[in-house]
Amino acid sequence: MQIKINNKKYEVTEGEIILDILNKENIRIPTLCSYGKLKREAACRLCLVEVKGSNRLTTSCTLEAQAGMEIITESEKIRKARSINLELLWSDHAGKCSHCKKNRQCELQNLAEEYKIENFHFIPRKGEITSQEELDLIRDDWSRIVVDDKNPVIARTTEFCIECRRCLNICPGKMVGFNYRAGDVVIGTPYEKTLDCLFCGACVKHCPTGAATDKNNLEEIQKKLDDINILAVAIVDPAILKSINNEVVEIKEEKKLNGFLKELGFEKIFSLNYGMEKYLQQITEELQNKKDKSMIINSSCVAVNRLVEKRYPELKKQLAKVDIPDEIMAKVIKTDYAKKNKINPKNIFIVAISSCTAKKSQSYKNLDNIITVRELGRMVRERKIKGSSVKELAKDEIEEKDFSSAEKIIKTGELTKLVLKKIKNKKLKTVVTDSVQKTKEILDDIRKRKEEYDFIEAMICPGGCLNGGGQARKIEKVKTNK
Ligand code: FES
Repeated sequence: MQIKINNKKYEVTEGEIILDILNKENIRIPTLCSYGKLKREAACRLCLVEVKGSNRLTTSCTLEAQAGMEIITESEKIRKARSINLELLWSDHAGKCSHCKKNRQCELQNLAEEYKIENFHFIPRKGEITSQEELDLIRDDWSRIVVDDKNPVIARTTEFCIECRRCLNICPGKMVGFNYRAGDVVIGTPYEKTLDCLFCGACVKHCPTGAATDKNNLEEIQKKLDDINILAVAIVDPAILKSINNEVVEIKEEKKLNGFLKELGFEKIFSLNYGMEKYLQQITEELQNKKDKSMIINSSCVAVNRLVEKRYPELKKQLAKVDIPDEIMAKVIKTDYAKKNKINPKNIFIVAISSCTAKKSQSYKNLDNIITVRELGRMVRERKIKGSSVKELAKDEIEEKDFSSAEKIIKTGELTKLVLKKIKNKKLKTVVTDSVQKTKEILDDIRKRKEEYDFIEAMICPGGCLNGGGQARKIEKVKTNK
């Protein structure tokens, strides 16, 4: 079946959503609520299009294709309507960008710039407030702000929230929803209790503004990196190379990343591959030596560990007794490496640069801090490091050996394959999962004694750490079609 978009014919399937067709055909359309396959809620109303024969504009994220349909994606009328809708969203944000962690990485800010949102018809700018009535209006607005900074991983503030509902729809545990009513509505946890979830980071990854961000004290970390008495060590998760470019455009490969890390103050840069190899060896050993029929769940996904601890406490003893690769490695650095190089371990500060947010919910004996790809980007921006002055550098090695094969385990299923290759004289029944839902189904079956396994490789992020919650999304400047 055919439809026309901007006077050009396209072959489409009946019922296909127009926004999906536009994305497929690379016809840009601004969106702040729809994202990928997330439920379409038509909350932002920026994806408006004209449909020939109708004098009303329609949201393309909810519009189904019908034979002969004629769609226009850019016109004066559309631009005006989008501008008003953007201005409504922007009115709560005006003047707040400079203290927002997402400054320059914010989808709303980009669109406000692109659509030249400068007039504030809906809430007066602070500088222009003269009447008591207007001041009260602003105060009312501020009193609605709910901040959650008590949990260890995710900073939430409704100050920057545009109620786009992406977090609501992406959260695998449905930990957030709407609180209050009508104009007072805010996204929050039940009774505004401190967030205590799996900390998979999907909400932070998908939030278009600064309403959900990574929690950390980056100033403290930077201070340690600048301290000449401290040896600052970076452990780099190879998965971050998939998305670091979305935060720092100049980083296209590992050597450039190492150069940026040196500029930030890291003196030694090691790849997590070493830790992953040791993890692989230790978990294989545990499985090889396992005597009874009890199963073992991989312990490398902290979100899975949290799920088991919270929802399946009786299975806690089934979690592998192996530390996460980052901590295994930090221990080696603070013991063997420190001894070999005559460094006082107390003067070593180790930061894992990770694709994972859940790892930040735990405290470790040797690993001092964890930052995500987004946080690394922020540190680079705050230091105003220019890519042109950054050298390409090789990483450091703990041992003169190639550990790159272990890198595969950043993808779900690869850990099982590598373990099975190493196991001798044993047949293991295994299962692999990469979502909260599937993991719960497997654990529920085990609880009901419907199923038995020797090894469960469970991860929470789809596809594994490669798509971890700490990875950065590409934040595009939307170019409207002329
Ligand atoms: S993307 Fe369609 S209304 Fe937000």
